[in-house]
Amino acid sequence: MRSAAVFLALLLCLQWTWAQGESGEVTGTDAETEGGNRQEEVQFEIQGVGAAHDQSSSQTNISPDIWAELKELRDMAIEQKVELRNSKSKIEKLEQENAATQARLTASESKNAVLEAKMSFYEGVVKELQRENMVLETRMSSSENEVAELKRENAATQARLTASESKNAVLEARMSSYEDMVKTLQRENKVLGATVTASNNKVEELRRDNTVLESRVNTSENLVAELRRENMVLETRMSSSENEVAELKRENADRPKVAFSAGLTDAGPVGPFNTEITLKFSKVFTNIGQAYSPTTGIFTAPVRGVYYFRFTVWGGRPSAWMGAYLYHNEKRMTLSYDYNDEQAYVSASNALILQLEKGDVVYMTLYPGSGVFDDSFNRTIFSGFLLFAL
Ligand SMILES: *[C@@H]1O[C@H](CO)[C@@H](O)[C@H](O)[C@H]1NC(C)=O
Ligand SMILES: *[C@@H]1O[C@H](CO)[C@@H](O)[C@H](O)[C@H]1NC(C)=O
Repeated sequence: MRSAAVFLALLLCLQWTWAQGESGEVTGTDAETEGGNRQEEVQFEIQGVGAAHDQSSSQTNISPDIWAELKELRDMAIEQKVELRNSKSKIEKLEQENAATQARLTASESKNAVLEAKMSFYEGVVKELQRENMVLETRMSSSENEVAELKRENAATQARLTASESKNAVLEARMSSYEDMVKTLQRENKVLGATVTASNNKVEELRRDNTVLESRVNTSENLVAELRRENMVLETRMSSSENEVAELKRENADRPKVAFSAGLTDAGPVGPFNTEITLKFSKVFTNIGQAYSPTTGIFTAPVRGVYYFRFTVWGGRPSAWMGAYLYHNEKRMTLSYDYNDEQAYVSASNALILQLEKGDVVYMTLYPGSGVFDDSFNRTIFSGFLLFAL
């Protein structure tokens, strides 16, 4: 209740202060209008408070303290009036500042529009980047998996590397021994190089020789070809010759083989006789073809042909005739004889080539009145053979 009273007093005081301001320092239409409005409000408030005061009816006495308080309040109001005046100038100042701020705001807003456009562009970019980010994250996660996989592989590789390194050490040792071998081989190579050079020279020489030999071989080959051709001709001729030879062999095989030789006797003298007798040469040395008969002393031609005959007759009877005939069939071909007019030996020989028909006969007879002699010395012999058939 008391606070309500204080508030009422304050309001009265304020009314008074404004009244003072209108007549004094505070001027301007705005302030007057404001003041008028305030006056009405305050009047209304006073009526309201008055009604509330009537209802309570216990607030009948106002103590001197209130006046003191009111005085205090009036001082405060004055103080506030000063402050208000200051505030007004401050407000003006602020209004100027506001105008400036407004200008800046407008500038700011246009700037803002630009920035908003930029912002929306950047938002688009950001969204794009976010999408890309997601893609990258997916890729990143797969990459991470890959990295993990690679780490595992790395570990395995490391293990293999270690094994490899130990193997490497072994290989290096072997390598060094191989290097020694290589050095040795290089030395040997030098020696071989010299040998190879010498060999190459020799090879060149051999090539030259080869060319010479090749030309000789070519010549020989040509010769061989020539000889082959000739050989073929000769082979043809040879084969025809062989055929001829075979033919001749067959002919030869068919040709009759005729040859004889026979001595007269081992018994000594034959003759003399008054008549002409056929001499039977009984000691057969040879009788191919059995054309000669030692029992009759007659040769019979087995084929038509040319025949050769010869004989020798021998005599040892002193002062006596020695002689014989050779006959072709009934024809005398020769009489060969001699007279032993000294105490010695005589002989007669002759030869004939005769053409005989098959079945013709040839033989010798003793010349009448003469004698011949033969013994184991084989002094009297008759021979003949076929020269060729016709
Ligand atoms: C030998 O003959 C062959 C073949 O006809 C030929 O190529 C080569 O040049 C000849 N060689 C000589 C050395 O004449
Ligand atoms: C005479 O012929 C026979 C029989 O062939 C022979 O044994 C003998 O030695 C021959 N006689 C002479 C002196 O050659």
